[in-house]
Amino acid sequence: MTHLLYDLGAAPGLVRQLATSMDAEIGAMELRRFPDGECYLRLDSPPADRDVVLVCTLDRPDLKTLPMLFAAATCRELGARSVGLVAPYLAYMRQDIRFRPGESVTSRHYAKMLSGELDWLVTVDPHLHRYDSLDEIYTIPTRSVAAAPALAEWLRANVANPVLIGPDEESSQWVAGVASVIDAPWLILEKHRSGDRDVQVSVPKLDLHRGRTPVLLDDIVSTGGTMAAALAHVCEQGFRAPVCMAVHGIFAGDAEAALTAAGVGRIVTCNTVEHDSNAICIAAPLVAGIRELIQPGD
Ligand code: R5P
Repeated sequence: MTHLLYDLGAAPGLVRQLATSMDAEIGAMELRRFPDGECYLRLDSPPADRDVVLVCTLDRPDLKTLPMLFAAATCRELGARSVGLVAPYLAYMRQDIRFRPGESVTSRHYAKMLSGELDWLVTVDPHLHRYDSLDEIYTIPTRSVAAAPALAEWLRANVANPVLIGPDEESSQWVAGVASVIDAPWLILEKHRSGDRDVQVSVPKLDLHRGRTPVLLDDIVSTGGTMAAALAHVCEQGFRAPVCMAVHGIFAGDAEAALTAAGVGRIVTCNTVEHDSNAICIAAPLVAGIRELIQPGD
């Protein structure tokens, strides 16, 4: 029997594209909020004896995680054969160490909660900084698919003569990966973060790349503080308005306004999190990742 996909919140069109590529059925369900904020969930398409794929991107995770876990538990209770999660954006990956005594290492606790309800997980470029892989914290089979080929393809088609700039050391894995595909020069700035929203970047030597279009690339834009600091620095040096690219555009609070104020030319993101800047579709790598874990109609 075909797989059964439930849409628990993904960018427009993504679930349809996954279902078409997988030859899967999209399940009917009702998910809404009671006036007190609790959620109501009803699965209209029966999950009994089906391999279920929940699709839920986990930005704003404190709102989205509980409904997703309720859906997983309900599928199981109603006899699903297996329940996997496609989370184009995987939350709670950044607190991967206890910086100060008493802090919760939320990445571990979140991974434990999800591993307890799901059979497998596929995501796009999780924020792996101090962890080498999701296997260090998730106890279920996982696949992390890379957005780099899709980012590179977009750049090749849309930006002539780019220089790729990573706003901090952690971005080097994405910047180097994309630059190597399109054979473009790249460099990494140094970042110092003094608070949730206070970020300073070092002075880079950009002069070698005058005449090129600066492309700032990071895995996540959250508050926009990191990108805005890098943008301001590049703009101060007289470069043309940079393109800002991110795999995951969270855009918390006034992040977009901060980028505009800092001089951004264009913002481009993957459709892992719904946003006006979504220009790169991530369905194909997600399907490849899903297929590594499950067989079609198995
Ligand atoms: C940090 O390690 C990440 O790669 C991003 O640079 C960071 O998460 C962006 O956050 P914000 O937009 O809040 O500066």
